[in-house]
Amino acid sequence: MYKIAVLVSGSGSNLQAIINNIEDGDLNCKIQCVISDKPEAFAITRAKEKGIDTYVIDKREYKDELSDRILSLIEGKVDLIILAGFLSILKGKIIEKFKNKVINIHPSLIPSFMGNGMYGLKVHKTAIEYGVKVTGCTVHIVDEGTDTGPIIMQKVVPVMENDDEVSLQKRVLEEEHKALSEVISLFIDNRIKIQERKVFII
Ligand code: GAR
Repeated sequence: MYKIAVLVSGSGSNLQAIINNIEDGDLNCKIQCVISDKPEAFAITRAKEKGIDTYVIDKREYKDELSDRILSLIEGKVDLIILAGFLSILKGKIIEKFKNKVINIHPSLIPSFMGNGMYGLKVHKTAIEYGVKVTGCTVHIVDEGTDTGPIIMQKVVPVMENDDEVSLQKRVLEEEHKALSEVISLFIDNRIKIQERKVFII
């Protein structure tokens, strides 16, 4: 059975979508564990309710050792790492050992509204202020940079004239919930081929 680790920091609606898709038989994998860098993340409650193993590696406590601590929990145990609203930056050995096996979901069409400090509602507020007509979400490979790795899938969401960041976030999240599971499925079926910056679905 294909095994995934899901890393979270917040509400965990993307985690919930993965759980639902597994339960509905649409995603053929096992969530080996859910790891949060924040003790208060509601995502941890969602995982515990389903009997999934959970770990809190508090970023305030572990600081620069966070990535190595996460690696020690999952090395040899999972096939793919999913960053589902995980707000710490992974560094060092974990990126080498899981090269092309760590994916992140970001709530914009990368390379717009990405990089350090761009997360959650701030992304949508910035997109509205900029005046873009479409936004969306991006699932990409995680490399040493912030939101810079090869793009696997993007879904487009129109920006309405009366949108605020909350209404826009809600519609983008609906697409995130589909995109993340679709990409996980492609990994399970070994259909992802990466050549430099380009990702081909074979
Ligand atoms: C999602 O919108 C995700 O794309 C975003 O945080 C939210 C987490 O929601 N991630 C980032 O902004 C990363 N740069 P969730 O906890 O309900 O899944």
